[in-house]
Amino acid sequence: MNERIDRNVGLELVRATEAAALSAGRWMGLGQRDAADDAATGAMAAVLATLDVDARIVIGEEGRSGSPSVLAGGMQIGRGRQHLDMVVDPIDGRRMLAEGRSGAIAVAAVALPGAMWSPAPADYADKIVVGPAAAAALVPECLDAPAAWTLALVARASGKAVRDLVVFVLDRPRHAALIAEIRTAGARVMLRGDGDVAGALMASTPGSQVDLLMGIGGAAEGVIAACAVRALRGAMLVRLAPQYDAERAAVAAAGIDTRRVLTADELVAGDQIFFAATGIADGPLLRGVRYAGERAETYSLVLRNETGTRRSIFAEHVIGAE
Ligand code: FBP
Repeated sequence: MNERIDRNVGLELVRATEAAALSAGRWMGLGQRDAADDAATGAMAAVLATLDVDARIVIGEEGRSGSPSVLAGGMQIGRGRQHLDMVVDPIDGRRMLAEGRSGAIAVAAVALPGAMWSPAPADYADKIVVGPAAAAALVPECLDAPAAWTLALVARASGKAVRDLVVFVLDRPRHAALIAEIRTAGARVMLRGDGDVAGALMASTPGSQVDLLMGIGGAAEGVIAACAVRALRGAMLVRLAPQYDAERAAVAAAGIDTRRVLTADELVAGDQIFFAATGIADGPLLRGVRYAGERAETYSLVLRNETGTRRSIFAEHVIGAE
């Protein structure tokens, strides 16, 4: 893969996450997560359709409220010639957003064709994410070892004590034992109701509140997060972890080896990767959308893997003008 992606694609991509966030933010606290998702998906798709790319959606959105999705996996989008793989999540944290909680973000990423791994038909995967300081310390054994072992490796590599570490974990009953292990080891747990793409972003961003992400979340979100983790020079381990019988059967029928541990560069290969995220509701890394009459403000992050550039973009929009 020696083709290059035009560097303006990253800036084009952020228009799509801004559009999704501008649309989704209006649904904050309205208790309608599927309708919010459909609106954000439609807004993101409308912008992506105008981009100078010919992108295959590797991971997309299902239509949530009965409507067919305009951004489903397998679709092609864009009106240009640059062939790309694309992953999108117009709202990561739909439930939090519907409940009026903080932390939802809109995300999209691209890489060259064939670069992105598709977890289909799996829904869930076990993940560990760390930032650049601890990237070299992360080894596949971490997924099976007691949490204390991994925490000790990460603490040593980061020049911290275990009790200095904060671990992002989704607040789910399946994580009861993991949470107990982390606390027993002496590290602290940031429990969040949803949004492990944002969790992975925090874990791989130096100086953020979070040192690691651990636990089982969406497999698709794992691939999306890998795009950011690569660009931030963090490290990631992912292994499928089917959670219910139909998922186990589908994964087995597809002949997928659930023992395989994938690293970030197996989830998304090559150096041509762009990632964009826009805050929907205030979170630890990105502020949410602010509306005021005809205007609205968005806060976004654009990452380019090849150069490691990390751009924070504040934008003021005239609603309906873009
Ligand atoms: P959605 O916003 O798409 O519903 O995803 C939220 C999320 O928390 C992801 O960030 C995470 O990977 C996944 O759900 C975890 O799945 P589950 O809620 O089934 O445990």
